[in-house]
Amino acid sequence: MFNLILFGPPGSGKGTQSERLIARYGLKHLSTGDILRSEIANQTTLGMEAKSLMDRGELVPDEVVIGMISAALDNNPQAKGFLFDGFPRTKAQSEALDKLLAQRNEAINVVLALEVTEEELIKRLLNRGLTSGRSDDNNEAVIRARIQEYHKKTSAVADHYQVFNKVVGIKGEGTVDDIFNALCEEIEKRMAA
Ligand code: AP5
Ligand code: MG
Repeated sequence: MFNLILFGPPGSGKGTQSERLIARYGLKHLSTGDILRSEIANQTTLGMEAKSLMDRGELVPDEVVIGMISAALDNNPQAKGFLFDGFPRTKAQSEALDKLLAQRNEAINVVLALEVTEEELIKRLLNRGLTSGRSDDNNEAVIRARIQEYHKKTSAVADHYQVFNKVVGIKGEGTVDDIFNALCEEIEKRMAA
């Protein structure tokens, strides 16, 4: 198996690059943001509880997303590997993920961290808000709150995996193709290892 975390702040291109990476490497894409938005669309209890937090740009509780990931791992026993997008997002989520993988004799192979300036993130998300229908995109205050949550809680995830030397920074500005190629180069180095 090959298990990859695509890491980075809101708007850094995780979703965009994930689509291409899963197509090339046959990995199962696990995006907690996408799962939560589908829970909202289906008006489930979980979705309704998550919605107000997401609309404010705040993280939903750890146990909620950890439960979603645990179920997804169970439901995909044949996967060649997983691409985690938007998860883990706190130190507690990182520790829970390591445990869930260890129970299956698996581990994270690499954390690829997209690096984008804050000015560019805000520009991209405001622009996406014109068409995405995402309620957390069309308000600059909410976008800034998401970036703040990232600095306050999520950057600790990179520190967690840095200890194991698993984090590689990738410049997340430039063309989508160039960034994709840089990601592929790092993945293939590690798949060969
Ligand atoms: P989530 O859905 O994960 O959103 P996010 O992290 O805020 O990130 P985005 O999806 O907005 O950005 P992205 O990095 O995927 O970039 P994209 O490719 O779309 O989370 C949403 C909410 O759910 C959270 O706030 C939280 O409430 C909750 N949640 C989710 N997971 C959670 C967890 N684990 N724990 C707790 N709560 C959780 O690109 C952005 C835009 O830029 C697009 O328009 C794209 O076309 C454009 N773009 C992409 N690449 C480029 C490029 N190279 N040049 C120019 N534009 C580009
Ligand atoms: Mg995304």
